[in-house]
Amino acid sequence: MIGDKKVLFSGMQATGNLTIGNYLGALSNWVKLSDEYECFYSVVDMHSITVRQDPAELRSRARKLLSLYIAAGLDPEKNCIYYQSHVSGHAELAWILNCFTYMGELSRMTQFKDKSSKHADNINAGLFTYPVLMAADILLYQADVVPVGIDQMQHLELTRDIAQRFNAIYGDVFTVPEPYIGKVGAKIMSLQDPSKKMSKSDENPNASVYLMDDPDTIMRKFKRAVTDSVGVVKHDEENQSGICNLIDIYSACTGMSVEAIETEFEGKGYGDFKTKVGESVVEKLRPLQEKMADLEKNKDYIDSVIKNNAEKAQYFSNKTLRKVQKKVGFPERIR
Ligand code: TRP
Repeated sequence: MIGDKKVLFSGMQATGNLTIGNYLGALSNWVKLSDEYECFYSVVDMHSITVRQDPAELRSRARKLLSLYIAAGLDPEKNCIYYQSHVSGHAELAWILNCFTYMGELSRMTQFKDKSSKHADNINAGLFTYPVLMAADILLYQADVVPVGIDQMQHLELTRDIAQRFNAIYGDVFTVPEPYIGKVGAKIMSLQDPSKKMSKSDENPNASVYLMDDPDTIMRKFKRAVTDSVGVVKHDEENQSGICNLIDIYSACTGMSVEAIETEFEGKGYGDFKTKVGESVVEKLRPLQEKMADLEKNKDYIDSVIKNNAEKAQYFSNKTLRKVQKKVGFPERIR
């Protein structure tokens, strides 16, 4: 707890261009949570270097992502929006937690198995201990809840195990975090292969709609979206996964229910429907894109957010870190 609020932590990596999946599935939910919880939203740049990055590009993307958090509606006065690498406690706690995490546990992580087969020439130790750094992110702020996608659930389970293990030895040091799983419409699939999640790193440029795509590009991608031969706008996951995905997107952009959407398009063809979905996405993204353009002009403002929030994060994280250091037996600091 901070004051009378529970604490929420989440983070995103600044690799690849964010898609409407990241926005409709994650970011826009974050905005809804920001009144209820004391929120820490990090740009997790330390995680990104587990895969080789171009330095200038990583830096620029990290700044864009941080601006995007704000453009999406997170007020940086209320939400602590900051770069992971600016707060030294993440690395320090991760080291300690490494000593409370087993090789066997980390070997079982499916993301590690996936990534090490994708980057077979660079299976570094950071890739292996990635989930421990993630546990440090969360435990450092004594987070009560962590909004994560299903793909990160295994890492969150591990975080809970590490916290419980540590608490069992040293007493109640860490809050054991709960997952926060968003409601329907949260999982947006690829427009070209609706059995796959829409991804910021898809090789097919028509598969994903990026947050900064212009209206023409967005409309074109929706026109090319894969559908089926049934010919009815119906939320039938088994036989019409493409249409199902488009309904979810439309619903997320307009706030309409699935039933209302099915009724609106009764007797209409896929062409009409796709146009409407495309338009709803263009309208949903317009304010976000305008705000991004504004923020890009306002360098001093972003700089002040970066500085102030890093200080705030440092303050709260140090409280936990000092406690942990004392528990494990590090000598006290002389002041
Ligand atoms: N690993 C997460 C992802 O790739 C990002 C992340 C890092 C995170 N630290 C976190 C998410 C802490 C939630 C909480 O999506």
